[in-house]
Amino acid sequence: MKKITVIGTGYVGLVTGACFADLGNFVTCLDINKKRIDDLHNGVMPIYEPGLDQIVERSYKAGRLKFSTDYAEALKDVEIIFIAVGTPSGENGEADLSYVEAAVQSIAEVIEGPFIIVDKSTVPVGTGDWIDGMLQNHANGKTFDFSVVSNPEFLREGSAIGDFMRPDRVVLGSKNPNAIAAIEELYAPLRCPIVKTDIRTAEMIKYASNAFLATKISFINEIANICEKVGADVIDVAKGMGLDNRIGPKFLNAGIGWGGSCFPKDVKALAHIAREYGTQPQLLEAVIKINQTQRMRIVEKLELIFDGDLNGKKIGVLGLAFKADTDDMRESPAADIIGALVKKGAVVRSYDPEAMDQARKILPDAVRLCENPYQALEDADALVLATEWNEFKQLDFKKVSKLMARKIVIDGRNIWDPEFLTGLGYRYYGVGLGKYAI
Ligand SMILES: NC(=O)c1ccc[n+]([C@@H]2O[C@H](COP(=O)([O-])OP(=O)(O)OC[C@H]3O[C@@H](n4cnc5c(N)ncnc54)[C@H](O)[C@@H]3O)[C@@H](O)[C@H]2O)c1
Repeated sequence: MKKITVIGTGYVGLVTGACFADLGNFVTCLDINKKRIDDLHNGVMPIYEPGLDQIVERSYKAGRLKFSTDYAEALKDVEIIFIAVGTPSGENGEADLSYVEAAVQSIAEVIEGPFIIVDKSTVPVGTGDWIDGMLQNHANGKTFDFSVVSNPEFLREGSAIGDFMRPDRVVLGSKNPNAIAAIEELYAPLRCPIVKTDIRTAEMIKYASNAFLATKISFINEIANICEKVGADVIDVAKGMGLDNRIGPKFLNAGIGWGGSCFPKDVKALAHIAREYGTQPQLLEAVIKINQTQRMRIVEKLELIFDGDLNGKKIGVLGLAFKADTDDMRESPAADIIGALVKKGAVVRSYDPEAMDQARKILPDAVRLCENPYQALEDADALVLATEWNEFKQLDFKKVSKLMARKIVIDGRNIWDPEFLTGLGYRYYGVGLGKYAI
């Protein structure tokens, strides 16, 4: 049992804090966002993450999990401090480290005893050393007894608790073996492989992993576009490829591309680091470009269907979150698609099971958000499936037939059976399906 403070109560910080508390540790989750902390005291989760409310409630009631906005209170007698604040994209694709810097400064102002700073935020290579330097030469003149550990996080939104509790691996980077040993002890109950390395390598492992996963998706999307031209079926292509152990089946689902809070900013940040150090990130640049054009393929397809004129066309878009099982709208392909449709004069109605509140903040006012998928499809000229939520998989298409003005389906995630839908009289277009290409 250890005493831990986690700084930042977003997807990573709150999950980390709640899971370590669930494992028997005493955890304080700290955030500068007072509303978040007030909500958490009242049992209201600031994010949608399956299963999170139960483990937060369990540990909160048991007194192992606390919430605070006060650094001095949260860091009293604490030895292990996790940093899990955001690192969004800056103007040129570089990671914006201002939240990390502010967190480290706030720690330095109040910390007394020896401590280990564990960085969970995804940060450019060299950030751990920069934190080290910031603390060693701190303006307040204090000297600190501390170590820095890089412990990048690999959880996925939507399955974050399971990913945290059953990780494929934990990566720990530090120049101090004792600090690594202390953090290793925290993870011991998870019985997973632990990669121990230096800080810069740990930071690089995170960027390289995300860049590789994004590359896999952009790769299959490029193959999908070729499949549409040559009359092949990308679902079978991916199956045939994925059974090869060297390739593996995961991240080979063709669709409208990747989004979210991590892949876009992390691939851009890695490309930026490469350029900064004088190497040309040719593959990463292509991966980003393919992803940008892939989401717009949906708009191109609609233009082909409607002879280039989307003005006044009613489009029902199902799904807004960047992927299923999250309310995260950051860099969501659906938002870009809807933005482009509205610009071209289309009338958009949409529905998402969890992301409507987030969506309202960023979508054009003209977009009507509906109470259920059927309402979004009333009188629609076309249906666009943008997020692969389970509840859309069993949509009642007989009911939908009666609602839509024209039976046109663009399945941006290949979740429906084309033969079934064409059998019901729909014009069906998937991604990378030569037989159903336009
Ligand atoms: N979201 C993911 O799926 C995921 C997965 C792996 C890694 N990461 C990385 O983890 C980091 C956090 O991501 P997230 O999605 O949890 O972010 P988030 O935006 O959901 O949460 C960040 C939290 O930090 C708080 N914060 C900002 N500055 C602060 C400060 N000075 N002191 C205290 N709190 C502060 C914010 O108020 C916010 O609540 C990022 O670097 C991200 O790249 C995210």
